[in-house]
Amino acid sequence: MYRHYGRNPRRKEVVKTRCGCWQTGERRICWAEYCTDTGVIMSLPAIVHSAATPVLTLAPMATLSHAALRSLIHDFGGCDLYFSEMVSAEAHLGGTPFERYYSEGAPDPGRLVYQLIGKRQETLIEAARRFGRLPCAGVDLNFGCSAPHIRKAGGGIAWTADVDRAARLVDAVRRAVPADRTVSVKLRLADTGEPQHTVRLAQMLARAGADFLTLHPRRMSDSYSRPARRGLLEVFARELDLPLIGNGDVLTAEDVAAVRRTGATGVMIGRGAVAHPWLFARLKGIAPADIDRGAVAQRFHELLRQWQPAEFLLSRVRRFHHYFLASFPFGSRVAAQVQGLKSFEAVVGHVEDYFARFPRYRYVSQGSDRGGSTVSAIDAAWAGQAAVSLQPHEALIEHQRPARILPAGRVVPFDVRLNQ
Ligand SMILES: Cc1cc2nc3c(=O)[nH]c(=O)nc-3n(C[C@H](O)[C@H](O)[C@H](O)COP(=O)(O)O)c2cc1C
Repeated sequence: MYRHYGRNPRRKEVVKTRCGCWQTGERRICWAEYCTDTGVIMSLPAIVHSAATPVLTLAPMATLSHAALRSLIHDFGGCDLYFSEMVSAEAHLGGTPFERYYSEGAPDPGRLVYQLIGKRQETLIEAARRFGRLPCAGVDLNFGCSAPHIRKAGGGIAWTADVDRAARLVDAVRRAVPADRTVSVKLRLADTGEPQHTVRLAQMLARAGADFLTLHPRRMSDSYSRPARRGLLEVFARELDLPLIGNGDVLTAEDVAAVRRTGATGVMIGRGAVAHPWLFARLKGIAPADIDRGAVAQRFHELLRQWQPAEFLLSRVRRFHHYFLASFPFGSRVAAQVQGLKSFEAVVGHVEDYFARFPRYRYVSQGSDRGGSTVSAIDAAWAGQAAVSLQPHEALIEHQRPARILPAGRVVPFDVRLNQ
């Protein structure tokens, strides 16, 4: 099968030009090429199959990986694939008023993978069929979400309990989705001692027609404070005959290299890309030398207004700043304050005030995403991780809560201001 698509002269950006698929043994490999005015820039999933360059992907994150965040990342140069936040198949078919926001493809539909979550086979297949007909790179099934209300209802990680049923779903979704779209699955580790169950599941999903898999190597019972079990990626990469995207705690080029060394074809980044929307650009070596974080926050607020309904603005801006602000000097304190604000405008004002009060922390230059070590230590203390002692240029201005005495006998202040 081989099809040609003409260039769409009205669209200046990315246009799909050709796509096709072929059969190799039991596996079908589908691909598509996308062109800009300057020529072919990518081929999916040929790019996923390429061993030469790591495929950088934005993780699916509920309330975060929407068109506004994707556009912010795109402004810096983007990544190879953007996953959408998970879309409930049941809600989508039910036609709730907000569904059009979940199916928004901006900024680059040709690189967008819609992630679906659901509890029933029929609804997932029908939703996949509909999303697969939108301009997009592919459709992904969420077999990893372990949120109790989803798992207990039979969605997310619950699909991994029955390997044959999961494989039947992937097979049916593969048939429902056009051949020029990828079908993929995102997995988390089963809560058993050995990874063999998840490896066997992954092999079955590959045979059922998945084009690639993503593994977040944490068990259901692992909290985020525990490092991802990156070593297990190697087991999956070795045992699988299809591209694997490795995920979990990737923040630096060294992390990317470590994931690549496991044999994974690509790297998926979630929280790190919210904290540092320029992270993909930095990994690709195209980030500007100096980044004005205040301007980044302002741009994100604009993008939220552009791409999200008024009803979502407050929850989305709070969720973003939980990661974005928390990575700055003094930021975790401000991020915590933002969570208590009651309107989108109040959050915007509070963030602007933060950057006005600490102008020296607006700018981040190559290689330093945090301030000096003292400030980082204070920030860590606010996050409850360490004790600090104040430097001469810092002053304790108030105790909003009683200061805590840590075992080391040092006082952790709860609000600190720089003497400027
Ligand atoms: C706020 C939040 C929302 C998430 N939502 C989803 C989701 O919708 N679908 C999914 O497969 N994983 C979801 N995840 C998991 C991430 O995709 C990713 O696997 C995890 O955060 C580990 O990657 P990281 O260390 O780069 O953040 C979510 C994670 C976070 C923090």
